[in-house]
Formats: sequence, structure tokens, C-alpha cells
Amino acid sequence: MMIQASCLQLCTLLLMAGRLQARVTAPQHLVAPVEKPFTLTCSLSKERGESLREVRWLDVQNQTLLTYKPGNRESVSGQQHVELAPSSTKDTSAITIRRVGFRDEGCYTCIFDLHPTGLKQGSTCLTVTSQVTVDGNKTAVSGKRVSLLCSYGLPEKVRQITWRRISAQGESTDVASFAKRSDPMIEPPYQGRFWLTPSLSDSQLTIQPVAIQDEGCYTCMYETHSDGLKTSTICLSTYVLPKPQVSYKTTSPGVIEANCTSVSRPPAEIVWNVERDNRTMGPPVTKQLSQDDGTTLVISTLTVQSGLLKDVSVKCLVHHKGLESPIAVSMNTKIGTALTILISVTTVAALLVLSLCFCLWKCFLRKEAD
Ligand SMILES: *[C@@H]1O[C@H](CO)[C@@H](O)[C@H](O)[C@H]1NC(C)=O
Ligand SMILES: *[C@@H]1O[C@H](CO)[C@@H](O)[C@H](O)[C@H]1NC(C)=O
Ligand SMILES: *[C@@H]1O[C@H](CO)[C@@H](O)[C@H](O)[C@H]1NC(C)=O
Ligand SMILES: *[C@@H]1O[C@H](CO)[C@@H](O)[C@H](O)[C@H]1NC(C)=O
Repeated sequence: MMIQASCLQLCTLLLMAGRLQARVTAPQHLVAPVEKPFTLTCSLSKERGESLREVRWLDVQNQTLLTYKPGNRESVSGQQHVELAPSSTKDTSAITIRRVGFRDEGCYTCIFDLHPTGLKQGSTCLTVTSQVTVDGNKTAVSGKRVSLLCSYGLPEKVRQITWRRISAQGESTDVASFAKRSDPMIEPPYQGRFWLTPSLSDSQLTIQPVAIQDEGCYTCMYETHSDGLKTSTICLSTYVLPKPQVSYKTTSPGVIEANCTSVSRPPAEIVWNVERDNRTMGPPVTKQLSQDDGTTLVISTLTVQSGLLKDVSVKCLVHHKGLESPIAVSMNTKIGTALTILISVTTVAALLVLSLCFCLWKCFLRKEAD
């Protein structure tokens, strides 16, 4: 009944045409971001002696969305997902869609029921849009796992998602894709280490295990029915964490040369921590050597007087972006361990000799007693 009634009203209105239509103004076309509230507005220019009895909004299916009598809050009735906007006055009517969704796309009609002139209407068409969002650039530790995530709020409009990789050299290659009613497809060079979720909204590309060569930027491309290509890019940096080592040798009497070495990506920063002492012979010398696999070998050489190691703690501190705190390698523990082993071996040997002596002495003593 309601639909018939509004249709009848609309037909009447269409017959009256031109002059009346100009009395209601509304933006012809609007773009609304998905999942956000959105307000539609119609303005009426009343003539002298006219009074507004009722306002009715029709949705994209020409169903009643909301009706109210101006100045009477109690009279507002309509669907759950819309409300009368506070900006409504006697001559403008505004309604807010609480959370815009895919189904809200289409044309809306506002109908003003005037006394004594009858119905005046306007219409506004809404296009719902979304942007591709990402959670920023990523870093991954070589050998571990990483997931790159793109989201698009209107999966209904998406035909296909393609992930493309742009290497540091600028070459771009397709990595994976997913289309409606099919399985995710991984391009042959990436099979076995790359995985894609079968989703047209939240697309997650997972790499496991991550290799150094995976570094680069990855673009997710959403091919949509009506909004063209929507894309976003995530850049991935790959880390190799350092496993520093300290080695040393005596270069001349009383002088020790110590090396702290670390292989990592990106290069680590090595500093020496020598407890408040000036017996180091000059500042450390640092060398960087690029390796073929994309890592960098860093060697920091410190020359110290050998006496220093007995008195104070000498540490090599390795700082790296992929570490929460620097790795410390102490030079003293090495000497300490060596010393401990030496003492233990000596003690055991001494004990053995002692017990042997005791045995011998006892044996001889017994013999003599016999
Ligand atoms: C709603 O009504 C208008 C004319 O009043 C018509 O052009 C349109 O196709 C109708 N829409 C639907 C979904 O019925
Ligand atoms: C991500 O990395 C790329 C290249 O390194 C850079 O151009 C871009 O600004 C970065 N984006 C963010 C959000 O940090
Ligand atoms: C320290 O590294 C240098 C190369 O930078 C090397 O020539 C030297 O033999 C190393 N010394 C030790 C004790 O490993
Ligand atoms: C540094 O060495 C000099 C001797 O070479 C000594 O007199 C001085 O006390 C030392 N300073 C510190 C802080 O150890």
C-alpha cells in the first residue's frame, strides 16, 4: 500500500513537472565513503502562504526510509539505519545514514508535502567508495614469516585482487592473484614460499620463510566493477640479525689486537665499551665488507695493552635495527673461561698425584709392618 501510495504521489508529481521540481534542490551526485556516517540534504524554497506538512525520504528501492512532521520530534519514524540529522530546519531536510554500506548505493528521493500546493520532490544519487588501506611498511627477519595485509571495504565491487612485486631495481612482476569463485593463484617463481588468503576484502600475502631477495615493494591491486583499479603499496625490508664474535691475538709483547666481527643486514654498528680506562691504543678501526648474499661483514679492531683485560671489563657492543637492545660480547669471559679450565685441570691433576702418593705410602707402610 505504502509503495503504491508513494508511486501515485510521484506520478502526480511527474505530471506537474518543471516548475515544481525547481522548488526542491539537492546535490545530484554524491560520493560516500563506506563504513562512515553520511548525511543527505534536500532544500525547499517555499512560497508565501505555503506550509510544510510532512517530509518523506525514499531509499534506493523507492521504499520509505524516514518520515516526519516538521517541528514534531515524536513524529519521526523510519528504518533503523537512518536518523533525522540535527541540521534539519523548516526548509531543509537532512537524514544521516549511520554507517554507509554497499547496499546504500543508488538514488534517494526527498518528498515535501506542502499545504495547499501538494508534493514537491528532489533526488540525490549516492556512490559508495572505499580506499585500500595497509598497516604500513614492514621489516622481516630472514628465515622467519611475514604477512602483508591490504584491506578494501567494498568486496562486492571487487572482481580480482593481484599482488605485484617491484624489486629494488624497479622491475615489476606479478606474485599472486585471487578472483571470485576461484582459488588463490601463486605465480611459479613464488610457489611454496608465498601464500594468499581467498578474500576480496582483506587480502593477506604471507611469505615463509622470508629470503633476503624478497626485499622490495608489493602493490595490491583491487580491480573493481565501477571504481576502476584501487591500489596500495607496502615495502618490505629484510633483516639478517648479527651473531657477533670476538677474537684476539698478541701482536707484540704486551699488546693485544681484538676483532669484533658481525655479519648482518643492514650493516651493524659496533662500539667498544672499555670501562673508564685509557689503556686502549687509539680508537677502534672499523671495516665494512659487502657479501654476495646481500649481508655486510663489519670488523672492528681494537688494540689494547694486555694488562687492561685483567683489570677492567672490555665489551664489544653490536647495535642493529632488528634488535631491541645491543648484543654485548665480553672479551674478559674468554680469558676467564680459559683460566677456569686451566685451574680445574691443575687441581684435578694435583689431587690425583696426592692420592697416588698416599696409596704408595700406605702400601709401603703395610709392607714394613708385615
Ligand atoms: C524509483 O522511482 C523512480 C521514479 O520515481 C524510478 O525511476 C526508479 O527506477 C525507481 N527505482 C526502483 C528501484 O524501483
Ligand atoms: C614505505 O617505504 C617506501 C620506500 O622505502 C617509502 O617511499 C614510503 O614512504 C614508506 N611508507 C611509509 C608509510 O612509511
Ligand atoms: C682482525 O681482522 C683483520 C682484518 O680486518 C685481520 O687481518 C686480523 O688478522 C684479525 N685479527 C684477529 C685477531 O682475528
Ligand atoms: C691515563 O694514562 C695516564 C698515563 O699514561 C695516567 O696518568 C692517567 O691517570 C690515565 N687516566 C685514566 C683516566 O686512567
